[in-house]
Amino acid sequence: MIALAHTPVLVREVIEQLISEKFRIFIDATVGGGGHAFSILKHYENIKIFGLDVDGFALDIAKKTLEPFGERVLLKKGNFRNLKRLLNEEGVYTFDGILFDLGVSMYQLTGKRGFSFNDDTDLDMRMDITQNKTALDVVNNYDFKALKKIIRDYGEEYRADAIARAIINRRKKGDIRTALELADLIVRVKGKKGRLHPATKTFQAIRIEVNNELENLTKGLKDAIDMCATKGRIGVISFHSLEDRIVKNMFRSDERLNVITKKPIVPTKEEIDQNPASRSAKLRIAEKK
Ligand SMILES: C[S@@+](CC[C@H](N)C(=O)[O-])C[C@H]1O[C@@H](n2cnc3c(N)ncnc32)[C@H](O)[C@@H]1O
Repeated sequence: MIALAHTPVLVREVIEQLISEKFRIFIDATVGGGGHAFSILKHYENIKIFGLDVDGFALDIAKKTLEPFGERVLLKKGNFRNLKRLLNEEGVYTFDGILFDLGVSMYQLTGKRGFSFNDDTDLDMRMDITQNKTALDVVNNYDFKALKKIIRDYGEEYRADAIARAIINRRKKGDIRTALELADLIVRVKGKKGRLHPATKTFQAIRIEVNNELENLTKGLKDAIDMCATKGRIGVISFHSLEDRIVKNMFRSDERLNVITKKPIVPTKEEIDQNPASRSAKLRIAEKK
């Protein structure tokens, strides 16, 4: 199956409110398929973009998408938790603006990498396929207490206890190998009601654990705040409340920042109609004093 293209979210808002005409160096910490970067480079002709992603497949797509902009783009594989080191290695010590567009891309969701409930391929869920830990390890090796904690804390799933217990019981018959098997197991525990797939929260939790997403965000944001130039801006698009809380608290508690968005910017109804995947996006922006 060929992965579907990713539609970038809140593009107009990023262009108008995160970036200004005066900016010269912009960091796209999650360049993905290059959707945001493409629009930014097109709109601001004096900007150069340094694009980062942990996912080598995404970078291959970004390379093609951003080819027309030639030397205005530098792409690098790396985890934004090491932002300072990765930028310093390329001689970049400060920048005017940075965007973190968190979560998974459509390329990952539809790429048969175990991110999606219907994937009958191995439970993987790694954004960086060179890292060791996969969802198979988490689901088949973590003990009851650890599984329950992850599903409760990272998924905010109120049936965490029952789901963790069902996983442990099912393991007696052998490993849970595919995303589909795990999703089916959760459907059996929770039943099917409501619009949300019953496994949504558990999948989110396991993905966060596999990719260490919350710690990465805290570390990446810290480096971004340190390195951002005066009057430069930091923008984060998040897709669930755990990430949004981290961003809100870090922005509010850092005396070097002015928070630009007292309330997060959310997609318009038109955007949600055109791209339902944008519905939970929240953009927060802060400016360095
Ligand atoms: C929502 S997508 C970004 C889409 C992109 N803005 C676009 O318009 O195409 C999120 C991307 O962030 C990447 N990512 C997630 N965590 C990361 C991290 N800690 N460091 C670098 N990239 C990360 C993922 O691999 C994915 O490609």
